[in-house]
Amino acid sequence: MSYLEIKNLRKKYSKDGPLIIDNLNLSVEKGEFIVFLGPSGCGKTTTIRMIAGLEDVNDGEILIEGVNIIDKKPKDRGVSMIFQSYAIWPHMTVFENIAYPLKLQKVSKAEINKRVKAVAEATDISNLLKKYPAQMSGGQRQRVAVSRAIVVEPKIFLMDEPLSNLDAKLRVSMRTELKNIHNKQNSTSIFVTHDQSEAMSMADRIVVMYKGKIEQIGSPMEVYEDSATKFVAEFIGTPPTNFFKTRIEKIDGVLMAVNSSFKYKIPNSLVKALEKYVGKEVDMGVRPEFIDISPEMEKTEGYICDTNISFVEPQGSHSILITRIGEVEIKIHTVKYMYMKPNTNVALNVKSEKVMFFDCDSTKRIKADNL
Ligand SMILES: Nc1ncnc2c1ncn2[C@@H]1O[C@H](COP(=O)(O)OP(=O)(O)O)[C@@H](O)[C@H]1O
Ligand SMILES: [Mg+2]
Repeated sequence: MSYLEIKNLRKKYSKDGPLIIDNLNLSVEKGEFIVFLGPSGCGKTTTIRMIAGLEDVNDGEILIEGVNIIDKKPKDRGVSMIFQSYAIWPHMTVFENIAYPLKLQKVSKAEINKRVKAVAEATDISNLLKKYPAQMSGGQRQRVAVSRAIVVEPKIFLMDEPLSNLDAKLRVSMRTELKNIHNKQNSTSIFVTHDQSEAMSMADRIVVMYKGKIEQIGSPMEVYEDSATKFVAEFIGTPPTNFFKTRIEKIDGVLMAVNSSFKYKIPNSLVKALEKYVGKEVDMGVRPEFIDISPEMEKTEGYICDTNISFVEPQGSHSILITRIGEVEIKIHTVKYMYMKPNTNVALNVKSEKVMFFDCDSTKRIKADNL
């Protein structure tokens, strides 16, 4: 049994309204840092509000240490939550803000003193305890909100887009801070974001959500390298995966992915799985970093077609090259910094072992072991 288990969770906001959360299942181990990642409106906030008890559940179970908490009041669930607008009280000092939930629990003064000081140390705001929120920066206020949430030693610490109100630089440094606090406190955390780079850099496991369903659960490397659906391949990574609509055809006994611009020989490892798709359309996906260029007409293994590089975006450590193949704009992430004049003709090659194919109906990845 896992520390937190969510089973067949469903949610509608009104009887005849749409299903907002559609049969969600998730197990979380003690000490994990879980990130819910997905576009706006996919149901992330709804899900963590149901865990916190701020939203009713239509169907399903939420168990913490084996106990179903669905009928418990928010304050009896052992969870703490912080929000995007980190509501801390302006008329209270930092100390009073952090102490507040402990006062409600009728914890003794000496114990409050001890716990507030310990938490303030962990979140690095010991020197601010006498200050008022108005005298502090956004990042410092955020740390106060975090301290107030964790001082009660919650079983689960829920964070709903806690960094989105901070400026870009602070947002990045607060990622490390929050992760540090999580590690020091040995908390079990669920963190919500729509920012894939935030999710990749913080999560032990990412829960990728789309339209009220889980698309994939996996470590950052798993969802990146082994994307389960077209949506995951598109949402994770910048620039996003390039997609081509192709048709699987057998030409002179060789299995090919074909469209009006190219014929690409299916790698051996995928031949068996793609045989079943002969005559059908599939989405072919290649990440920008798995496309190489070589001099035009040079047909190496993984050759797609010749093309014209229309834009070059130098990024310092690498470059982004932009071209069109048929109707589709394609981005290439070079390994090193590279500059070339726009309007250069090149040959495009893909790393065959990294090419992905997706079923157009189910959007699921067609994998070599899908026998
Ligand atoms: N109180 C509400 N009443 C009706 N619909 C809601 C309510 N809150 C959210 N929704 C709808 O539920 C869906 C999921 O919203 P939400 O959980 O806030 O998504 P996210 O946090 O991923 O952006 C959206 O379509 C949203 O419009
Ligand atoms: Mg939200």
